[in-house]
Amino acid sequence: MKIPISKRLRLCAQLVPEGARVADIGTDHGYLGLYLLQNGLAAHVLAADLRPQPLQTAKLHAAKFGFAGQMEFRLSDGLAEIAPDEADTIVCAGMGGDLIVEILSACPWLRDRNYTLILQPQSAGQELRRWLGEHGFAIECEQLVQDGKFLYTVLRAHPGAGTPLSPGAQYVSPWLRQSGSPLLGAYMQRIETALRRSVEGLMGAEHQRPERLAYYRSALEEVEEMRKNHENGTGNL
Ligand SMILES: C[S@@+](CC[C@H](N)C(=O)[O-])C[C@H]1O[C@@H](n2cnc3c(N)ncnc32)[C@H](O)[C@@H]1O
Repeated sequence: MKIPISKRLRLCAQLVPEGARVADIGTDHGYLGLYLLQNGLAAHVLAADLRPQPLQTAKLHAAKFGFAGQMEFRLSDGLAEIAPDEADTIVCAGMGGDLIVEILSACPWLRDRNYTLILQPQSAGQELRRWLGEHGFAIECEQLVQDGKFLYTVLRAHPGAGTPLSPGAQYVSPWLRQSGSPLLGAYMQRIETALRRSVEGLMGAEHQRPERLAYYRSALEEVEEMRKNHENGTGNL
């Protein structure tokens, strides 16, 4: 029986190193871990969630697809109940970038070994990229996928020398531009539209937030230029 996994989660699975011991944080339905096991892509999967109900659903799915004995389940707020040697690859998918930052920053042992982080922010990806760059995590690659009408990005990062990113690069990272994805143009367009709305919203706001406005303006200018260069074929950096 095939695991009904979305394109978004399939891209997360593709970025998991072969034979990894995976902790899937915020597992919900458990499909990512089940797909990894079914396809021989992971040696072990620990499926964790903050709430008992999703964990129960993941357990039922594991039984349904015949992997009940091969997957571990853990009620855990982020990585709080996970020991450092239980996984070498940490996945946080389908959560806001701000929540992923909260989860990573609350974990005291993430920089102790060369853990692989597979991160798929549903929103606020710019906050996640900025945090990684400023807190000792090196982004190794970032890829795009279209699932329905939505575009998602998935990052792979490791402890290392982080790269501080300009406002524009926090939204459209150098690694994403290097990916050469055919979806890049559309992605930049969407980011540009969202940034323009943020700028207009702040300009019309009663309560002035000059620093925020300057940040959005700067990001918008950069992303506009990136998109134009991308359209002219004048480089992805
Ligand atoms: C939208 S689902 C994403 C499920 C799956 N990872 C995916 O990408 O399809 C988010 C899941 O994260 C869980 N979650 C939220 N905050 C969490 C936290 N602090 N620690 C662990 N899980 C959390 C929620 O209970 C929910 O099951």
